[in-house]
Amino acid sequence: MIELQNVTLTYPDGNSRITAVDNVSLRCEVGMLMGITGPSGSGKSSLLAIAASLITPDTGGVLIGSGENMVDAAQLSKTEATELRRDRIGIVFQQSNLLPALTAREQIEVMAHLGGGSKKHKATITARADELLEATGLAARADKRPHQLSGGERQRVAIARALVHDPDILLIDEPTSALDQERGAEIIELIEHLTHKRNTATLLVTHDLIHRSAFDELVTVIDGQIREPATV
Ligand SMILES: Nc1ncnc2c1ncn2[C@@H]1O[C@H](COP(=O)(O)OP(=O)(O)O)[C@@H](O)[C@H]1O
Ligand SMILES: [Mg+2]
Repeated sequence: MIELQNVTLTYPDGNSRITAVDNVSLRCEVGMLMGITGPSGSGKSSLLAIAASLITPDTGGVLIGSGENMVDAAQLSKTEATELRRDRIGIVFQQSNLLPALTAREQIEVMAHLGGGSKKHKATITARADELLEATGLAARADKRPHQLSGGERQRVAIARALVHDPDILLIDEPTSALDQERGAEIIELIEHLTHKRNTATLLVTHDLIHRSAFDELVTVIDGQIREPATV
């Protein structure tokens, strides 16, 4: 579960500050795909960065998990936030940010090696990467490097990589912006499927409303505020 409670974020702007996120509250349960839409500059990416614990809001709470495992990401130190991201949050940015020299399988393996407390066996990590390649429809593309993959395939690798540590929360920023409509629809379908199958609480930023039927809930951000829950 992820819940934002009255979250406000400002950025410095000359002598004053601009409000990018203005008293936003929202709640996304496990197994739920929430769409976040709204015009460019309305604060969607800022909202996602707060949910990801990459930015600490000026005020408000960012509750992640439930019961004894619940933490307020807004109250964590930088080190604690880094651990939270590694263990419990999967993030997919607008550009897939893949390493050019690595194959699809290696992109995932590298992430599996990162910061994991106990040293894992190479074979275990490769098996995990292969499982995720399969789950994202990339089994046949495992040994390809980014320049050999299509835009949609690169997004799939980024999604597989975000799932390496079995996150509770999945945060995805405009995954279809560089894709044609059909590839875009396939990516959204994949995210919908993974959300339900892996029980992640998924926030998906998009301004592409043709995908609206995939969302369990859809909210619209305008000038940093949640307006109307948009009709799905
Ligand atoms: N790092 C930053 N420093 C200053 N202003 C920023 C920064 N990031 C975003 N903004 C401003 O905050 C507002 C919201 O931006 P953003 O969250 O990127 O919106 P969206 O993702 O909806 O396009 C915009 O006015 C943008 O110019
Ligand atoms: Mg954005």
